[in-house]
Formats: sequence, structure tokens, C-alpha cells
Amino acid sequence: MKSRKGKSTVGLRYKLSLPVVLVCCMVFFLAGFWGSSFISQDDKGSSINEGLHQQQLLGANGGEKAVSFEHGESGNSEISSFSFQVLSWKPRAVLFPNFASKETCEAIIAFSRSRLQPSALALRKGETVDSTKDIRTSSGTFVRAKEEKTGALDWVEEKMARATMIPRAHGEAFNILRYEFGQKYNSHYDVFDPAEYGPQNSQRMASFLLYLSDVGEGGETMFPFENYENVNIGYDYKECIGLKVKPRQGDALLFYSMLPNGTFDKAALHGSCPVIKGEKWVATKWIRDKPVSFR
Ligand SMILES: *[C@@H]1O[C@H](CO)[C@@H](O)[C@H](O)[C@H]1NC(C)=O
Repeated sequence: MKSRKGKSTVGLRYKLSLPVVLVCCMVFFLAGFWGSSFISQDDKGSSINEGLHQQQLLGANGGEKAVSFEHGESGNSEISSFSFQVLSWKPRAVLFPNFASKETCEAIIAFSRSRLQPSALALRKGETVDSTKDIRTSSGTFVRAKEEKTGALDWVEEKMARATMIPRAHGEAFNILRYEFGQKYNSHYDVFDPAEYGPQNSQRMASFLLYLSDVGEGGETMFPFENYENVNIGYDYKECIGLKVKPRQGDALLFYSMLPNGTFDKAALHGSCPVIKGEKWVATKWIRDKPVSFR
């Protein structure tokens, strides 16, 4: 890229001696080269970059002209805008409204529908598939971003990495889930406490959920211990209480299961309330504190 940039600078000096019209053309030409040099330095998600970057050059990014700063070798030139709402600090939970489009959500559902299997659980010592069968009743499938050929999941994964600033390599494969009438997931933690699950190589530090559908009624993501409420009430893990997040197609929810000092956040207990009307589709990604080798 450096050499291409060099050539066009020489070109500029030469053209400066030509009539004004040509100079103007050259300026636009250079702007294009300058832009493309940024795009091709970024080997991941370059098609996403291209679209957004061109919007910026045209000043068409929501009618405002975004100004892109010089970036490092590992950065990129595009300016993304996100809306977000902090839903809770205990646990740290943030909602991104309209994170993905309807088309993106529907492409992911279409790809996943035929691959669904009953969802499984990681078992604690002493638990069996049979003894735990009512805890999580959804169907699901694990999908790596690259397997979904429309690029929808790949795009979601890239945008997610930028929103969380946790590299893509830390994410497990997406778990695409469908909850039908009455289906739910009792409250649980995403971290694996070594005292219950044995030694762990890494931990699920954060969870990212993209709601792929609206739900008529029920199906909320709940945080029963939000603000450390209900911790001492002898809470029944089937009960749907505390902070409830209503699924809305295209919205994304991010929450952290670990505190900044690396210990588990007791307030990150969460579950999925039973679906009462309609169907709930969600794409979940567990983000670990170390790169994932099995993704
Ligand atoms: C980690 O942070 C939490 C919350 O601030 C605190 O209660 C806990 O004692 C800390 N643990 C360690 C090991 O620093």
C-alpha cells in the first residue's frame, strides 16, 4: 500500500502544472486512493469497511460528515455509531437498540432453522442429562460465523467485536436458540465455577445476545439478582423476577459475568422467562477471557 500511495503523490505533482479542471479531478482521485489504502490495511471485515467508508467520503453517514482520524496498523478508518442504554451496573448490562437489521436477523434464522437440536447443559458433578432436563427446554445449534454464507453472522461478529473491544478470537461459536411456547431457561451463571465444574482453562467473561425475533409475550431475559436484590430470599431458579429485558428483533444485549478484577459477579445470574405468545429466536455468543481454541 505504501508504494501505491507514493505513486499517486508523484502523480499529483505532475498534474499540478495542468489546467485547474484536471487538478480537481486529481484531488478526488487521490481521496479515493487514500481511502482504499486504509481499507486494504484491514484484512478482516474489509467489505464492511468499504461500504461504510464510502459513505463517509460522500458525507452521507446519516447526513453528517464523519471525520476519520489517523489510525494505527491494527486499527481501521471507519467511524461507527452505536446507540446504547446502560440497563444495569450490577451486573454490567448494556442494550444496543437496532444493532442488526431485520434482514440480517431473518437470514440467521433461515440458516439455523433446519439445524436445531434440543439445547444441552454443561453438567455439574453428580448431575445427569435426565436430572436436568427441565432446566433448559429450548432448541439450538452452534454456528461459526463463516458457515453462514450470506455473511450476516460474520457481520454481526465483527460489529460485536468492535462494540465490546474484545477480539473475535475470544468468542465461542454462536449458539442460535429457539424458544417455543412454554420454553425457558432457568436462572444460571455463564461462568463455570471450578468448585462445581472442575478446573477451567478459560472463563466466559461476557455474553452477547442478539434478539432475532420479536416475542408476543414472555421470553424476557431476566436478571433476578440485579443490584444484588433477592440474593437472600431463597430464590427459586424457575421464577421470573428482577430486571427483565423484552426481546425486540435486532436489539442486542451485552452483559459481563466477571467484575473488572476478574472475580465472578454474583449479580450476573440470568435466565430466559417462558415464552407465552409467539416464538423467541436469539443468537448468543459467549466471550471468554482467553482466545478460544475450539471455535
Ligand atoms: C473484586 O471486586 C469486588 C467488587 O468491587 C470486591 O467485592 C472483591 O473483593 C474484589 N476481589 C478481589 C479478589 O479483589
